[in-house]
Amino acid sequence: MQLDLSERISKRTARVVVIGLGYVGLPVATLVAEAGYMVTGLDVRADRVRSISAGLNPIGGAEPGLSELLTQMVTAGRLKASTDYAECREADIVLIAVETPVDPISNRPSYDALRAVLHGLAAHCPAHALVIVESTIAPGTMERVVEPALRAAGAELHLVHCPERLTPGRLLRNIREMPRVVGGMTANARDLAVAFYEHFVHAPLEGVDALTAETVKTAENAYRDVQIAFANELALICEDLGTDVWQVRELINKVPGRQVHMPGPGVGGHCIPKDPWLLLTHVSEGTRARLLPTARAVNDGMPHHVAALITRTLAESDRDIVGAEIAILGYAYKEDSDDTRNTPSAALVQRLEELGAHVRVQDPCVPHLDLPLATALKGADCAVLMVAHEAYRLAPWSELVRALRIPILVDCRNILPNALEGVRYVRLGDGQTARRNGPPADLRLDG
Ligand SMILES: NC(=O)c1ccc[n+]([C@@H]2O[C@H](COP(=O)([O-])OP(=O)(O)OC[C@H]3O[C@@H](n4cnc5c(N)ncnc54)[C@H](O)[C@@H]3O)[C@@H](O)[C@H]2O)c1
Repeated sequence: MQLDLSERISKRTARVVVIGLGYVGLPVATLVAEAGYMVTGLDVRADRVRSISAGLNPIGGAEPGLSELLTQMVTAGRLKASTDYAECREADIVLIAVETPVDPISNRPSYDALRAVLHGLAAHCPAHALVIVESTIAPGTMERVVEPALRAAGAELHLVHCPERLTPGRLLRNIREMPRVVGGMTANARDLAVAFYEHFVHAPLEGVDALTAETVKTAENAYRDVQIAFANELALICEDLGTDVWQVRELINKVPGRQVHMPGPGVGGHCIPKDPWLLLTHVSEGTRARLLPTARAVNDGMPHHVAALITRTLAESDRDIVGAEIAILGYAYKEDSDDTRNTPSAALVQRLEELGAHVRVQDPCVPHLDLPLATALKGADCAVLMVAHEAYRLAPWSELVRALRIPILVDCRNILPNALEGVRYVRLGDGQTARRNGPPADLRLDG
C-alpha cells in the first residue's frame, strides 16, 4: 500500500484533508491546493467554513497573497471547506493544525482540540493514510497521545510530526521558504512526508524522528522567549541605571556573536508563551529546569512594569492613576496582525483598571477596535503605544498629540517621535526619558 501512496504523492493525486483552518491550517491548505492537490479543509467553526467556501479569507491583518490565492483555489475547485469529519474517509493525507494551548494555572498541555480531532479521525478513519501533526506539541505527544488514539481505529497509518514555523504577516512566505524538520514515527512515514512537502516547501527538509521534531520546535520557541526575557530584563536595568536600552542594545550588537533581541511590553501570541511549557511537560523531576520558567516570569511581568511606568509618569505631572484616562494603542500581540491571543495589552488593561484608571483601546488591525486615532486620544491623560503597527509609525503625531488632555506619550516600541514640542515622552527601557522616584518596581528586592 505504501507504494501506492507514494505514487499518489509523486503524481499529486493524493486527496488531502487539513483539519483546523486557522493561522496555520488555512495557508497550508491553500498552498497544498496550489501545488496541484485536491484539498478539503475541516473546521468546527461553521462561520469560518462558510467564509472559506465563499472564497473569502477570514484572517485579518496584512497577509500578502493569502486572500488572492484562497479565492483562486476555491474558484478553481481545488480547495473546499467543511465541518464534516466523514471527509476524512477518502483521504490519503491528513494534516492536523489545531490549537494546542497550555492550562493557564498548571501550564500543562490542554489538548482538548487535538483529542477531539483524533476522536473524529478515528471514527472516520481512512484505511491507509499519511497523518501529519503540524500543531506544536510537547515532546512525547506523538507516542503518548496521537499514536494510541489512532491505533485504536485499527487502520494502517503513517504518522509524522512536521511542526510549522510561520509567523503572522508572512504566512505564505514562511511556509514556502522556511526549512522544516519532518519527524517520522517510522522511516517510511518520514520519507512519504518529505516527498509531500517537497511539492510546496522550497527549502531544506530535515528528516528526523518524531521526538526530535517535537523537541526542536518547542525548544526554538523557548529559545526566543529566553532571548526576549534577557532584552526585557536589560530594559529594566537600563531604566534603573539611567541609560537607554535601545542605544545599549545597538552598541552590544556591534560585537560579533552578540544579537540582543528587542525589549518590549511583554510576549504574546498563541505560541511563544506556551511552547516553553510544552518543552518541559515530560521532563523528569530530577532535571531542574530553572531558566525557562524564569524567562516566562520576566516576560509575563512586563505589562505590570508598563503600568508602574505609567503611574510614575502621571504622578510626575501631578495626575493620579485613579480616575486617569489612558489610551492604549495596539491590542494585537504583533505588529500588523489581527491576532490578539495572549496579548500583553490585555494584561496591561487589567492592571490599569485594578489601579483605578479608565482605559480605552485602539487597534487599526483588530476590526472591533479600529476607531480613529484622534477619537481614541481625545481627552486622554496619557497614550501608551504597545504595538509597532505600520499605521502608528506613519501617523501624524505632532497633530494627534493635541487631542490629549495631558500630552504624555509612553512608547514601549521605540517608534514614536521623541521630541515633539510640549510632549512628555517616556520610552520603555530608557532611564533618560523615564525619570524615576526609585528603581523600577520589578527590581526592588522586596518585590
Ligand atoms: N499562529 C502561529 O503563528 C503558529 C506558528 C507556528 C505553529 N503554530 C502552531 O500551530 C497550531 C495551530 O495554531 P493556529 O495559530 O493556526 O491556531 P488557530 O486557533 O488560528 O487555528 C486552529 C483552528 O482549529 C480549529 N479547530 C479546533 N478544534 C477543532 C476540531 N476538533 N476539529 C476541527 N477544527 C478544529 C479552530 O476552530 C481554529 O480555526 C498550534 O499548535 C500552534 O502552536 C502556530
